[in-house]
Parts: sequence; structure tokens; C-alpha cells
Amino acid sequence: MNHRLGLFLGIIGLVSASYSYGADEAAKLDTQQCSICHGYGGTTSSELFPHLAGEPAPYIINQLKEFRDKSRSDENAKRFMWGISSRLTDEQIEQLAAFYESKPAVHEGRISNQAEYDHGRNIFSSGLPDKGVPACMTCHGEKGEGSDSVPRLGGQNEAYLKRQLNVFYGNDRPAAAVMHEVVKGLSQADVEAIAQYLQAQ
Ligand code: HEC
Ligand code: HEC
Repeated sequence: MNHRLGLFLGIIGLVSASYSYGADEAAKLDTQQCSICHGYGGTTSSELFPHLAGEPAPYIINQLKEFRDKSRSDENAKRFMWGISSRLTDEQIEQLAAFYESKPAVHEGRISNQAEYDHGRNIFSSGLPDKGVPACMTCHGEKGEGSDSVPRLGGQNEAYLKRQLNVFYGNDRPAAAVMHEVVKGLSQADVEAIAQYLQAQ
């Protein structure tokens, strides 16, 4: 074999080995640690914890780093995520983010109150122009699928969505400056409606 070709094949081998090593590492962390709360592959049946499956990787990376540097500091962040994130390296964070992004997102499609659901859908797609609330869709995507550093909201559990929207009234997620502005014009009834609409996507 000529030397150049040998070197080339060697590099390909290394790259693919480290790629699958990363996926294995993430699967192991998922099984041994994260799934206790987030469910296997990031889909949980508990209202306490967010789904991670189908979240864009850059968003997950940002959040894990914000828990680790203690800047995301709402009560549940402190209680559940500060300790575990402090033991993750940058490399593990990247591997976990790729792992969860690759898992199919949940779609439960439950509607418990049609009028609320419709109100939530209107805010999501058109905002509340007279209250200065922008359409959520413009950043979060038509179905709330998210992209890059903007999170998926579609299919996320209602209780978690409500808690986070309430966190944005305060300053415990300083990296989410844009959301602090968005929630200013939302009432609790709007928050309930949006959360219900999004869970059902
Ligand atoms: C003991 C329970 C528990 C364990 C174990 C746990 N988490 Fe969490 N995680 C939570 C809770 C609760 C939240 C929501 C925090 C909040 O409300 O700010 C969360 C939030 C997150 C978020 C942010 C989600 C979003 O939509 O913003 C990510 C990412 C995350 N966890 C990843 C992980 C990873 C990766 C692991 C394993 C290394 C892990 N978690 C282990 C309970 C847990
Ligand atoms: C200008 C873009 C933009 C608009 C408009 C916007 N968002 Fe966001 N939203 C973001 C970004 C960026 C984040 C992530 C912030 C971070 O990194 O902490 C976010 C985060 C969130 C989260 C937290 C999700 C999680 O997993 O923790 C919720 C819930 C949310 N937005 C709901 C909404 C709703 C509801 C609306 C419409 C009323 C809306 N957003 C409008 C950009 C936007």
C-alpha cells in the first residue's frame, strides 16, 4: 500500500473510532446517570423532569455549561443539575448533546382543554402584538422543533414549560435575556395555555 493511502486510511479509522467512542460514552452516562431522571435516551414519563430527546445539541451544550458554571440557578437547577454537571468534562458534554439530539422527540398529542389549546396556538404563531409579545414560532420553529441554540418546545412536558416560563420573570437564567423580554406581556393564563399547546405538539 502506498504511504499516503495508508496514512489516509489510518486517519479515517481514528476519526470513526473516536466518533463511536463518543457515542458509547454518552450512552453509558445516559444509562448510569441521566436516565434516573430524564428517562432512557432522554424521554421521561415524569412531570418533574424535561425531555432531552430531540433537543438541538448546541442548546444542550449551553445549558450543561450554564449548570456547571452555576449561572442557570433556578431552584431545580441547583437541586438537581449543579452537582452532576460539575463532574462533566467539555468532551462528555459534547458527546451527551450529540446523543440526545439524535434521539426521536416525544409526541404525546394530549389536549385537555380545547379553548386553552387554541389560545396557546394563537400566541405561539402570532404573539400578542398589543402586549409586545412576539410570535414564539419565529425563533422556536413552526412546530416548536427548535434549532441551534434555541430549544425544542414541541412535546416538552407541560409542568416543566410552565416552571421555566415563570423562571424567566426573574433573573435565574441570565443567558436567556431574550426570554426575559418575551414573558413580560404574558399572564399566568397565557402561560398555562402555551404550555398545554406545546406539550400536545
Ligand atoms: C436527579 C435528577 C437528574 C439527573 C440525575 C439529571 N438531571 Fe438533568 N435535569 C433535571 C431537572 C430537574 C432539570 C430541570 C432544571 C430546571 O428546572 O432548571 C434538568 C435539566 C437538564 C437540562 C436542561 C434541559 C432544558 O430543556 O433546558 C439538560 C440539558 C440536562 N438536564 C441534562 C442532563 C444530563 C446530560 C444528565 C446526566 C449527566 C442529567 N441531566 C442528569 C434532573 C436531573
Ligand atoms: C427572539 C427569539 C425568541 C422568541 C421570539 C421566543 N423565544 Fe423562547 N427561547 C429563545 C432562546 C434563545 C431560548 C434559550 C435561552 C437559553 O439559552 O437559556 C429560549 C428558551 C425558551 C424556553 C425554555 C425551554 C427549556 O427547555 O428550558 C421556553 C419555555 C420558551 N423559550 C418559550 C417561548 C415562548 C412561549 C415564546 C413566545 C411567547 C418564545 N419562547 C419566544 C428564543 C426565543
